[in-house]
Amino acid sequence: KKVVLAYSGGLDTSIILKWLQTTYGCEVVTFTADLGQGEELGPAREKALLLGIKPEHIFIEDLREEFVRDYVFPMFRANAQYEGLYLLGTSIARPLIAKKQIEIARKVGADAVAHGATGKGNDQVRFELSYYALEPDIKVIAPWREWDLASRTALIAFAEENQIPIAKDKRGEAPFSVDANLLHASSEGKVLEDPAVEVPDYVYSRTINPEDAPDKPSFIEIDFEKGDAVAVDGKLMSPATLLARLNSLGRDNGIGRLDLVENRFVGMKSRGMYETPGGTILYYAHRGIEQITLDRGAAHLKDELMPKYAELIYNGFWFSPEREMLQALIDRSQEFVTGRVRLKLYKGSASVVGRSSPYSLYDQDLVTFEEGAAAYDHRDAAGFIKLNALRLRTLAKRARKIASR
Ligand code: ARG
Ligand code: SIN
Repeated sequence: KKVVLAYSGGLDTSIILKWLQTTYGCEVVTFTADLGQGEELGPAREKALLLGIKPEHIFIEDLREEFVRDYVFPMFRANAQYEGLYLLGTSIARPLIAKKQIEIARKVGADAVAHGATGKGNDQVRFELSYYALEPDIKVIAPWREWDLASRTALIAFAEENQIPIAKDKRGEAPFSVDANLLHASSEGKVLEDPAVEVPDYVYSRTINPEDAPDKPSFIEIDFEKGDAVAVDGKLMSPATLLARLNSLGRDNGIGRLDLVENRFVGMKSRGMYETPGGTILYYAHRGIEQITLDRGAAHLKDELMPKYAELIYNGFWFSPEREMLQALIDRSQEFVTGRVRLKLYKGSASVVGRSSPYSLYDQDLVTFEEGAAAYDHRDAAGFIKLNALRLRTLAKRARKIASR
């Protein structure tokens, strides 16, 4: 019996590792991914070895490029935001981690997978829906839903009994929970739990306070090809390198902070803080290039579908036919979303100040208030308005009749 555990190397997943060994008596295979969370992965290997994992059962992978290219970018083609604001930084990472766990399970002949998400959140749903979509008969172990280590004290006691090293700052209660990757850092719980109270400054890790950002704006240019960003300031970059570059520009200008109360899939509201510096710049830039390259009908249709698409990702249905159907539609819309966007970064804001494209639909001749182009006849507008007004006039007449009775 073997189980593939999504292992961060931190205290909680180390406890889970030990608990799997002792409770299930199974052989644990660890999988640690670099998704750009900004932590060294070496210590995770050391710790896994220390906890008795065989070297051939320790899997460590740099997934940064795959994450941005195959998950973040496709999602940004849709301008996806959950409940109007959340750029889905945690939601989009879970299917990739799950997919790799399943691949490793096949490779080592494991019949189970395990994760460290709690029993109250979205992440358990995202991991497990992804596992089942890819491997219908996989056995799933979710220790947080099973064990009786309910308090911090019980966890620490378990760690001590089992010789799991505990960093000094991990003995007490953590002040809040963090999930981070190349797209964002998310913080929830504890000091953030009261939605009436402002997020303390020390919770922010990815951005400087916009109030402390430079008093002078920075201007940048992003090039898009078929809906994906390919270059910053004329320099071609790989997806992960590009996002990292935008993160650094966003950090310096205090861009992408979000304090949000959201509706979890499992039913409760939760308050969180997100920092998505590069993603926020990318979001506005992508909308900027779509403004001149998308037809109105195409643009409005994808905007109508966006909340549905975002909800599917939030709820954990990345590997579902309906997400894939919407993705095909969104990808199709991006055929001519190519060109350059110029943005002004200034004290927390990223504003589009210019856009150009070889496929632009913007026609200065057509829109100008000066002497107009032949394609547009003012007399057509008069008839257009009259026909559109017909029903409104009919309604107004009826209202008048009723009022005079
Ligand atoms: N609420 C966010 C989501 O469901 C983030 C969850 C993980 N964040 C955390 N700090 N544990 O996508
Ligand atoms: C967790 O419960 O593990 C994190 C929060 C969430 O999944 O919503």
